[in-house]
Amino acid sequence: MSDEALKSTVRQAMRSSIRAIAPMNVPIIKPVGVVTLAIAQPHQFRCMHEITRQAFAEYDGKLNPPSAAVTITLDELTQQMAEGGGVLAQVCDTPVGSALFRLRPDHLYIGRLAVLPALRGRGIASAILDYMEQIAAAAGLAEMRLGTRVSMERNIALYERHGYVITSEQPHPAAAGPDKVVWMTRRLN
Ligand SMILES: CC(C)(COP(=O)(O)OP(=O)(O)OC[C@H]1O[C@@H](n2cnc3c(N)ncnc32)[C@H](O)[C@@H]1OP(=O)(O)O)[C@@H](O)C(=O)NCCC(=O)NCCS
Repeated sequence: MSDEALKSTVRQAMRSSIRAIAPMNVPIIKPVGVVTLAIAQPHQFRCMHEITRQAFAEYDGKLNPPSAAVTITLDELTQQMAEGGGVLAQVCDTPVGSALFRLRPDHLYIGRLAVLPALRGRGIASAILDYMEQIAAAAGLAEMRLGTRVSMERNIALYERHGYVITSEQPHPAAAGPDKVVWMTRRLN
């Protein structure tokens, strides 16, 4: 079996374990409520795209190099989930946050973490990160990785609170500019 075929078989096995993960309800604050996390179904990818566009709009014209998430299309987002999937966060059945994940042979990559501006600071992104741990565990992966920017100090602080550590800082792989990509990793027990 070729490397590619093997990777695809392993990914299929991971996907079927992930399908068995139940939605998770997490208490949130300010005001008190509950956020429900679940694996996004294909018909919900459009909601994820809308949340991503609204969440990343604050960076429009502010980052150098710019974030591809600001102008991402639905097709691009869907394509970026081809090696994994998405998580959708809902409050009272209303989509409020999302993130994508990719199943790599030795880690789960998390990307496009996004919460609608009006609902920030209530623990929704934290709940998504916790749910990602369940996905990694179900897939048999002991490590989670993500990237942010040196300029996004509050994001770095959020990830550090969740046990991620900085592993490297590198120039953006796709575009030139002074801001650097910060790669962070969290090992699961
Ligand atoms: C980063 C983000 C997902 C956090 O969502 P959230 O639901 O507010 O996060 P939580 O409530 O779980 O935790 C709040 C923490 O998020 C971090 N944070 C980063 N940007 C923030 C913002 N604009 N507003 C509120 N919190 C923010 C802070 O560490 C904050 O803690 P603090 O208030 O003590 O500084 C959200 O602000 C967002 O969508 N930002 C735009 C897109 C983005 O930067 N995504 C991450 C790319 S690496």
